Amino acid sequence: MSKKKRLIILFSAVLCLVVVLVVVAFAKGSHQNAVEKGGDAENKAQTETQSTPSVVTPTPDPSTTVPSATATNSTPETQGDNLTPETASTPFFKNNIIVVNKKHPLPQNWAPGENAEAVTHLRQLIAAAQNSGDSHASHIIEQWSGYRSFATQANLYSNYVASSGAQAANTYSAKPGYSEHQTGLAFDLKDSSGNLYRINDPVYDYSTDWVALHAHEYGFIVRYRDEWTPTTGYVGEPWHLRYLGVETATAVRNSGKTLEEFLGVSGGDYAQ
Ligand code: DAL
Ligand code: ZN
Repeated sequence: MSKKKRLIILFSAVLCLVVVLVVVAFAKGSHQNAVEKGGDAENKAQTETQSTPSVVTPTPDPSTTVPSATATNSTPETQGDNLTPETASTPFFKNNIIVVNKKHPLPQNWAPGENAEAVTHLRQLIAAAQNSGDSHASHIIEQWSGYRSFATQANLYSNYVASSGAQAANTYSAKPGYSEHQTGLAFDLKDSSGNLYRINDPVYDYSTDWVALHAHEYGFIVRYRDEWTPTTGYVGEPWHLRYLGVETATAVRNSGKTLEEFLGVSGGDYAQ
């Protein structure tokens, strides 16, 4: 075989080898490509599967539906009647306003403490009273009986019963669980002698008393007056303020009604 012929055979063999290698490499690349493409499709499928629930509107389950704030905070009147502090599971609300009277007790373990917003407004009211120039209101000091726990009220009430009898005590002191003081929203004002704030001067009454005239400007109402006993259940207390916020307190005061009448809820004496 001539040298030229041998070179041609060697060149052809190398060429074939290169062709084979190129074909193998190409085939491998196509396979890899196909695997990766398959993975992509799987991932995509997973993504779509995961996102599917977010576009499905779930059917509401009545047992887990959260009621609106208004619905939550307006307890049906029948639920408040005949409850006791031992059987009540929630306070009685009407239009988001917590109502406590002889018909609507608080749960025995209801213990929110003094309401911070109410105290801030009370301090403003006391400062304004002291600066008013009113001969009575200027004696009001930064001292009050505010939040009272169920146990504190129980102790207070039993002391009053011991000193004046249950019938008389019931006209001015709430049984434990029935006091507005347990909400942390009621405050008894004191004067500079440390006594409960009173309207002692004969020329003063609720129409001229600074507290009665201005409490609503700070979010409070004078909760008990003698003429209101049939609905409030208690004799008058010029010192007892209930915090409602400025808007509601102003509306209640301007209505000339008791809180019970304003809200249209039951009051008066204890249920028999
Ligand atoms: N003196 C008021 C009625 C109370 O005891 O809550
Ligand atoms: Zn009071």
